[in-house]
Amino acid sequence: MTDANAATSIEIVPGSPSHWPALARIIRRDLSMEPGQISYYLRHYMPGTAVALVDGRTAGCYVFYEVPRPQVAWLGIIVVDGAFQSCGVGRRLVEHLERRAAADGFSAIEMSVDPDNAGAQRFYERHGYNRLDRPGDRLTYAKSITPTAPRQTGNALARFIHWLKCRTIWRLRYALTIGNNLD
Ligand SMILES: CC(C)(COP(=O)(O)OP(=O)(O)OC[C@H]1O[C@@H](n2cnc3c(N)ncnc32)[C@H](O)[C@@H]1OP(=O)(O)O)[C@@H](O)C(=O)NCCC(=O)NCCS
Repeated sequence: MTDANAATSIEIVPGSPSHWPALARIIRRDLSMEPGQISYYLRHYMPGTAVALVDGRTAGCYVFYEVPRPQVAWLGIIVVDGAFQSCGVGRRLVEHLERRAAADGFSAIEMSVDPDNAGAQRFYERHGYNRLDRPGDRLTYAKSITPTAPRQTGNALARFIHWLKCRTIWRLRYALTIGNNLD
């Protein structure tokens, strides 16, 4: 029996810096991301981060953010600690993500998946995500959702600044964060 099978509660809470060290360990181990990349995601996308607590213990998270297409919520990270996998924690995270993205006015969720990660592909397909036919060495999966509130995209200038940030400033920040571990 895994830890999570004996669990009495799965709670999804907003991410905060107090979760970073545990999340960094989980992401590094179960998602094989570079420490600098993990640090970048957790620091810069904190508003789009939610953490799964299993009996109060940090068990996984998702991180999403807006891409230049303003109606699309991009799922950058979803991960569950190996000790808690296959017990419904991932399902709770996906359901929370979909409610949250709909409340923020998004009409689609997309993510890229490693072609070798058959488990993740099966997981997404089970949750209604479809594989898109886009060129690249990673696969893109997408699901349409029904927004429950209007999307606040700002005016044309605000959208341009956001696009510029996506293209340049965030990449520069990412480069500067390389090697800046969280634990
Ligand atoms: C993909 C991932 C997030 C799924 O999280 P999870 O907590 O294992 O997800 P769930 O428990 O909701 O579902 C996983 C499987 O367990 C099964 N399951 C769910 N609850 C269960 C329970 N109580 N008892 C037994 N099995 C259960 C589901 O049917 C599901 O089967 P499937 O893999 O055939 O779809 C997780 O496996 C993970 O972190 N993988 C490594 C990181 C990764 O690949 N992330 C995605 C990158 S794109």
